[in-house]
Amino acid sequence: MLETSRVPDSELYPVPADFAARAHMDRQAYEAARVAARETPQAFWSEQAQRLDWIKAPTKIKDVSFKKEDFRIRWFEDGVLNVATNCIDRHLPHRQDETAIIWEGDDPADSQHITYGRLHDEVCRMANVLKAHGARKGDRITIYMPMIPEAAYAMLACARIGAVHSVVFGGFSPDSLCGRIEDCGSTLVITADEGVRGGKIVPLKANVDAALEKVKVDTVLVIRRTGADVPMIEGRDVDYAVEAAKAATECPPEPMNAEDPLFILYTSGSTGKPKGVLHTTGGYLFWAAWTHELTFDYRPGEVFWCTADVGWVTGHSYLVYGPLANAATTLMFEGVPNYPDASRFWQVVDKHKVEAFYTAPTALRALMREGDAPVKATSRKSLRVLGTVGEPINPEAWRWYHEVVGDGRCPVVDTWWQTETGGHLITPLPGATDLKPGSATLPLPGVELQIVDAEGQELVGAVSGNLCITDSWPGQMRTVYGDDQRFFDTYFSTYPGRYFTGDGCRRDQDGYYWITGRVDDVINVSGHRMGTAEIESALVLHDDVAEAAVVGYPHDIKGQGIYAYVTLNKGVEATEDLRKALGAHVRREIGPIATPDVIQWAPGLPKTRSGKIMRRILRKIAENEIGALGDISTLADPSVVEDLVQNRAG
Ligand code: WT7
Repeated sequence: MLETSRVPDSELYPVPADFAARAHMDRQAYEAARVAARETPQAFWSEQAQRLDWIKAPTKIKDVSFKKEDFRIRWFEDGVLNVATNCIDRHLPHRQDETAIIWEGDDPADSQHITYGRLHDEVCRMANVLKAHGARKGDRITIYMPMIPEAAYAMLACARIGAVHSVVFGGFSPDSLCGRIEDCGSTLVITADEGVRGGKIVPLKANVDAALEKVKVDTVLVIRRTGADVPMIEGRDVDYAVEAAKAATECPPEPMNAEDPLFILYTSGSTGKPKGVLHTTGGYLFWAAWTHELTFDYRPGEVFWCTADVGWVTGHSYLVYGPLANAATTLMFEGVPNYPDASRFWQVVDKHKVEAFYTAPTALRALMREGDAPVKATSRKSLRVLGTVGEPINPEAWRWYHEVVGDGRCPVVDTWWQTETGGHLITPLPGATDLKPGSATLPLPGVELQIVDAEGQELVGAVSGNLCITDSWPGQMRTVYGDDQRFFDTYFSTYPGRYFTGDGCRRDQDGYYWITGRVDDVINVSGHRMGTAEIESALVLHDDVAEAAVVGYPHDIKGQGIYAYVTLNKGVEATEDLRKALGAHVRREIGPIATPDVIQWAPGLPKTRSGKIMRRILRKIAENEIGALGDISTLADPSVVEDLVQNRAG
C-alpha cells in the first residue's frame, strides 16, 4: 500500500538562503506578482509577454469568458510570432556554439551535443523537406518517434512552417495511432525505422504500416535510427536522410498569429475516445517558457533534464519548448531508468553535470525499491533543483528524493498541472516557497483556484473538495480539436463559469494545496492518464467478452493499477490462457500502458435497476475495502456483490 498518512503540516522545509538570494522570483516578488496578475492583468501579462520575441507585439492581452453566453479564451490575440525563431534563431547571436540539446542514447556509450547553430540547420532542413512534400501552414502532421533529436527537429520544423503537430507516444498501438491520424486529418507522418529502449527494439515503422492499413496518408518520412531494413512503400514512404542531404539549411519562419494552433495532443477523458487538446502559439509558448524559468529557477548555461517522453505534454513543455525558448541546454534521454542498471539516472546526471532534474514519482518509487546504493555510488554534486510531475508524490518518496538523491540540498518542486493547462499551475518556486512533502503547495501568479463541493458551492478555508479554476491563464488549451462543444461540456459545464480540473484537492490551514487524485473515471497509471471507458471498450471488442468494467486501485509503484472485471460470453470457459489473451488484446488495441494488472472474472456486474454500473462498489472491492461497500440495496441483483467479494483477485 502507498503511504497515505498525512504529513504533519509542521514538516516544513524552508527556502534555502542561497536560493532566496538569487531567485528569479523570491517570496516578495511572488506575492506582488499574484496581486498584479489579479488586479491589473492587462499590464502584468503585457509586461511578462515581452520575454518572447514578437514579430508584432500584442496590444490586446486578455479576452476571456468562461460563461456559456459569451465563452471565449484569447490571449495576446493581435500578436504575431514564430515559435521556432523564439526557440532557436534569437539565441544564435550569443549562443550559436552553445549546446541546445544533449542527447543521451539508450546505450551509455552513445551521446551527442547539438549546438544552437546545428539545431537551426537541422530544423530548417526538415522544414524544407516537409514543404517539398506539400506541407503548408495549418496542415496537421503526425509525429511518431523515439527519443532522438529528430523528434525535437520535427516539432520545431512544423512550428517553423506553421503546421500543427500531433505527437503520438511511441508506446501506443497501431490502432491508437490510426485513430489519432484520422481524427486530426494528418496527411503526413514522421516516424523512424525503429526505436531503442532499455536494450529492446520498438518497431515504429511497422506500427505505422499497420496503422495505415485503415487510414490513408500521402507521405511517411522515415528517419534512420537503427538502420534496420524496413519495407518502404513506393510513392508514400520517404527516406529522410536522402532528402535532408539535398535540403537547404535556411527556411524562412512563417509569421503566426498568437492564437493560431501550435499543436494537438491526444489525452484520455472519462468518456469516449481520446480528445485532441489544442494549444496555440503565443499563450502556450509564453507559459511553457515562463514556468520553466520560475519553477526551476533556470538560467541559460545550466543543464536541464526532463525525463519525460516527447509523446506527453511534459515532453512538449519541459523538454522542448520551455527550455529552448529560454536558451537552455536540454537533455534528451532515449533510455529507461533501470538500464543497464538502477544507477543510470544518476550516472547521466554526473556525466552531463545536470543542474535541474525533473521526473515522475513512479520512477522514484521504482528506484527507491533498489535501495540507496545505486544512488550513493554517484556524486550528484551538480544538482540544484529536483522536480516531480504526473501524480501525487507520497511523502516517503518525496523524502527519499530530497535526502538521498538531493543530499538534502535541493528543493523538490512538486508540479501540478495537466495536458490541458500547457504548463505548471500549482508548484513551489525554489526561492519563494517553503516545502511540505506531498503538497504541490501554492498556485502560480494568475492561477485562481477554487475548491467546491459536489453542488459547486465554493468551500473556504481548510477544506477538501473538487478543484476548479475561476479565470484563464495564457497556457490554457483553447479547444478540443474539431469539437468546441465537447471542450465546453467537458470542462465548463459541471460547475458553470469555472474550469473543472477533474481532480480532488485539500487545502490546509496555510493555504497549501494537496491534490488527492482524479474524481472522475480517469485513472493515473505511472503518471499516465487512462480513461477507464477506453480500456473497457477495448476489452469488449474481444470475441469472448460480454461486458467489462475497469477501475483503479492503489499500486505500490504505479500509483494506480488497472483492475478489470470481465463478464464472459455464455459458454466461454474462464481459463488462465484467456486471461493472458485478454491482456495481450488490450496491449494490442491501445498499448502496453493500458494492460490490466488484474482481471477478475465477474459472472455479473453490480448495476442499479436502471442498468448503471455502480463503480463505487467495484472500486471498494478492488481496493480490498470490503467492509466499506456502503448501501447495496438499490442494486438490481445484490447477490452479484457477494460473488465478486468471494472471488476477489490478487
Ligand atoms: C493529471 C493530468 C502534467 C503532465 C503530466 C500528466 C495528475 C499531474 C500532479 C501532481 C498530483 C498530479 C492530476 C492531473 N497530476 N501532476 N504534481 N500531483 N497529481 O498530465 O496526463 O494530462 O494528467 O495528472 O490528476 O489531473 P496528464
